[in-house]
Amino acid sequence: MTGRSEVERFRGAIAHRLGLRFDDARLGFLDEVLQRRLAWVGMSADAYLRDLQSGATAEPGALARELTVGETYFFRNNEQFRALAETVLPERRRAKGSGETLRILSAGCASGEEAYSIAIVLHDLALDPTRDVAILAVDLNPAALERAVRGRYSAWALRETPPELTRKWFHADGRDLILDEAVRTSVRFEEANLACDDAALWQPGSLDVVFCRNVIMYFTVEQARALLTRIGRALQPGGFLFLGHAETLRGFSEEFHLRHTHGTFYYQRKENSEAAAAAVQPGRPVVRFPAADGALPGSADAWVEVIGAANDRVAALAAASRSARQPAAGLPPPADTAAIFDLLRTERFTEALALLRRLPAASAADPDVLLLMATLLVHSGQPHAAQDTCRQLLLVDDFNAGAYYLVALCREATGDQAGAIEHDRVAAYLDTGFAMPRLHLGLLARRAGDRNAARREFAQALILLQREDASRLLLFGGGFNREALLALCEAALRDCGGEP
Ligand SMILES: C[S@@+](CC[C@H](N)C(=O)[O-])C[C@H]1O[C@@H](n2cnc3c(N)ncnc32)[C@H](O)[C@@H]1O
Repeated sequence: MTGRSEVERFRGAIAHRLGLRFDDARLGFLDEVLQRRLAWVGMSADAYLRDLQSGATAEPGALARELTVGETYFFRNNEQFRALAETVLPERRRAKGSGETLRILSAGCASGEEAYSIAIVLHDLALDPTRDVAILAVDLNPAALERAVRGRYSAWALRETPPELTRKWFHADGRDLILDEAVRTSVRFEEANLACDDAALWQPGSLDVVFCRNVIMYFTVEQARALLTRIGRALQPGGFLFLGHAETLRGFSEEFHLRHTHGTFYYQRKENSEAAAAAVQPGRPVVRFPAADGALPGSADAWVEVIGAANDRVAALAAASRSARQPAAGLPPPADTAAIFDLLRTERFTEALALLRRLPAASAADPDVLLLMATLLVHSGQPHAAQDTCRQLLLVDDFNAGAYYLVALCREATGDQAGAIEHDRVAAYLDTGFAMPRLHLGLLARRAGDRNAARREFAQALILLQREDASRLLLFGGGFNREALLALCEAALRDCGGEP
């Protein structure tokens, strides 16, 4: 029998050795797995857990069979393969010059569909995957890798594959489809643990493109960050990273630029000089507004507290930058920063702007101050100046969802609907908990007469608004509080034939 403390140790060891995160609701499942493994290896729980924690065992491979999610299919998020063919490969070939091999890694390849989709793209571009490009695919699960090497798939695995590619690269054998030999031999499969800093796999500057899709979403925050650091190190400057469509680098890494083409998102490793500049950027955040999953105010009092906390954060920021610069006479008292939020809340934007401009110069480059400045500029009808401020902010913080949302508002104000939609989409992608771009997308779709899209966006906004961070509502809510925004959203949803 295993007790709670053993299951907790098991969970800790799994996070440490495999990178995987399991919340409390899955402790019962972990208990079952632990008991099965103990019965199989014939060890006591204590000895087994000691070996697992110290790494003196081949258990991670066996555990991967039990614990990992291997869901995958050919041409999953096909837009990313179009971006690979039409943007990424041409850019990398230009950067490297002909004659040099491009190196592509499929990290967490499961049963091979992702790596083989890459190989099919290369064959279709008439690139020789044995000479021009090398594709390595790794996974921790040996059973998945065996299936990958076999190259035999059900029709379900090809559900998103364009029919002409199925005809060209597969032939039927009974109910299964067999992958063409030329494609199969273009991928090398290896067992590797992405939670380990394997020097051979992560050689600095050795890779041009990494697909690491739908892997970090199962990792602990620490392990995801460590893996992304290794990927950043192994990618050449200018190299590319594809994540799953529900995954972002926001909050994980500052070594990449966001790219948005073909209706999809991916990342490009900064050039060395940019990465170094970002690391010593004088305007790095001193304090941050809370993340989207910050405390939910349950009452009007809590709402006031959160606003108070936002005041404190900007006050702290002003104080920190003031002490860093040696105080001089004439700087605004900290009370002024609280006053800025008061003015924002009471929609006295011009006065708030004037006060904000009196903050010390060091604070002016802080992302939070820039965001506040851009918000006030939007509200006071200065979309061009607001966009300039957002541009400055995005130079410091590429993944700032708020900045993209404000640019969307500016684009709308200057008559560029398509630009507004695109920037809202980037904001919503970067921060899936951010309600305002969804609401804005709904309003834009309704105005364009697309009731279905409007309904979808309003429904999503309604869910997100209930959990939306309070200080972000204050910044971006356009003067409406949560209840007013919810009412607006419900009415808009009904108007488009939806049910709140
Ligand atoms: C959901 S699949 C993703 C497959 C493919 N990348 C895609 O997006 O379709 C996740 C894969 O990550 C692998 N994985 C999880 N933890 C791993 C680790 N620590 N090392 C290597 N692979 C791991 C799992 O075995 C599984 O095959």
